[in-house]
Amino acid sequence: MKTLRTIEEVRAWRSGENEVGFVPTMGALHEGHASLIRRSASENAATLVSVFVNPTQFGPNEDLAKYPRTLDADLALCEAAGATGVFTPDKEMIYPPGFRSWVIVDELGDRLCGASRPGHFKGVTTVVAKLFNITNPTRAYFGQKDAQQALILRRMVIDLNIPLELVVCPIVREPDGLAMSSRNRYLNPEERKRAACLRKALAEVEKLHKAGTRKTSILRPALVTILDDHVDKLDYAEIVDADTLEPLDEVDRPTLVAVAAFVGSTRLIDNVILGLRA
Ligand code: PAJ
Repeated sequence: MKTLRTIEEVRAWRSGENEVGFVPTMGALHEGHASLIRRSASENAATLVSVFVNPTQFGPNEDLAKYPRTLDADLALCEAAGATGVFTPDKEMIYPPGFRSWVIVDELGDRLCGASRPGHFKGVTTVVAKLFNITNPTRAYFGQKDAQQALILRRMVIDLNIPLELVVCPIVREPDGLAMSSRNRYLNPEERKRAACLRKALAEVEKLHKAGTRKTSILRPALVTILDDHVDKLDYAEIVDADTLEPLDEVDRPTLVAVAAFVGSTRLIDNVILGLRA
């Protein structure tokens, strides 16, 4: 596995490969990231992982400064999962002095996480567009854990005619159902126990849906009740059209149930899709 530190090194490495799968990350890697890397390694001759804590997707009062940085362990995980290259740019390379250009996906970026984290998705789409231009991958791999992010990036790839295949991979969970996340390491043991309620609340909605309940006026309170009992602050609990993110009265099409909540001071997200995708 090759460690690539500059854009020039990535371009030189890329020119020697026919088919590249790309897995962008912010490091502090775990089994969720490993599943994306393994999937890419199984579908592409070469797999490139980027590790870059992207400052422009963090709000002024968010955890940029304390975001976990574990590069040695990350490199070991990448190699074990089958990566053949890792790109570790620094801030100045990605955002040189004079940087002024942004990629914005209208509307989709203003809902759910975008409503509580203004500017977040503008940072995500801009850095991912830049990474796509630098790495020119055949396929790019993202997790369903960040459902809104995957949806917005799919829209960006279509709208900007970016020539790659975007692959969305299932959520990897801890044994108690908690979705794996780099931020889970902020949780103390008591908070860690309560954090499993996000998955429990979503499972309850899945159960009601399976039993025939379609009205979101029944489903949403079931979700909120379980969350309110366990989290310190609910950010949102929404039942929306899985393609447009618009709120629904009835689950009559592919539907995204998405939640975000604070346990202690840690913000956690999770989601489930109801109804079959076409
Ligand atoms: P990060 O949070 O490091 O996540 C990198 C990728 O791993 C994302 O596509 C995310 O959805 C996926 N992932 C995280 N936890 C997962 C889990 N439990 N199961 C499956 N996939 C999981 O998302 C970002 O970084 C950044 O926004 C980025 C796209 C790199 C742009 O900076």
